[in-house]
Amino acid sequence: MKKVFQQLVLVIAMSGSVHAAYAADPKPEEEIRYRQSVFNVIGRNFNALGAIAKGERPYDQAFAVKTAALLELLGPLPFGSFGPGTDKGALNKADPKIWTEQAKYKEAADKFQVEIAKLSASAKDLDSLKAQVGEIGKTCKGCHDNFRLKEARQ
Ligand code: HEC
Repeated sequence: MKKVFQQLVLVIAMSGSVHAAYAADPKPEEEIRYRQSVFNVIGRNFNALGAIAKGERPYDQAFAVKTAALLELLGPLPFGSFGPGTDKGALNKADPKIWTEQAKYKEAADKFQVEIAKLSASAKDLDSLKAQVGEIGKTCKGCHDNFRLKEARQ
């Protein structure tokens, strides 16, 4: 029993140190790569639903619901990686306005969050899915038009 307890303490202590390693500030280039990776995963999955909405791919409820659930989980992730100093450090398309017009950027991210949170429920039938993909697409475009540069910069 004592041994089990000691092991448990060790596991807890170790998970604490893993957490500490996580909490240590990632370098700007790591943040940039992280947000771009997540955006790419979001893009791939959102495009699959977009193809269904456009009738280019058959509607499959199980696939649509699963993909929607994944997108809901991924939605918030990139926005934790636009902290101070992450405007440079690696090639990226983040507009400097993100850091000078933070409230406006947050508003754009919040709009997206609100719409993406409705995706799973709407994926259950094709008409709702089409409508919701359209609503979300507007928030992607709205933010990209204002806050994503055409050309990447270092
Ligand atoms: C609130 C702003 C915002 C919203 C909403 C948003 N994006 Fe983006 N997106 C960005 C910014 C900023 C970048 C550039 C990031 C960088 O290069 O570091 C980006 C980059 C991307 C990229 C390219 C990643 C790369 O490596 O160049 C893809 C793909 C993408 N977004 C897809 C989407 C899709 C699909 C949606 C909607 C479902 C979406 N984004 C919603 C701001 C946004």
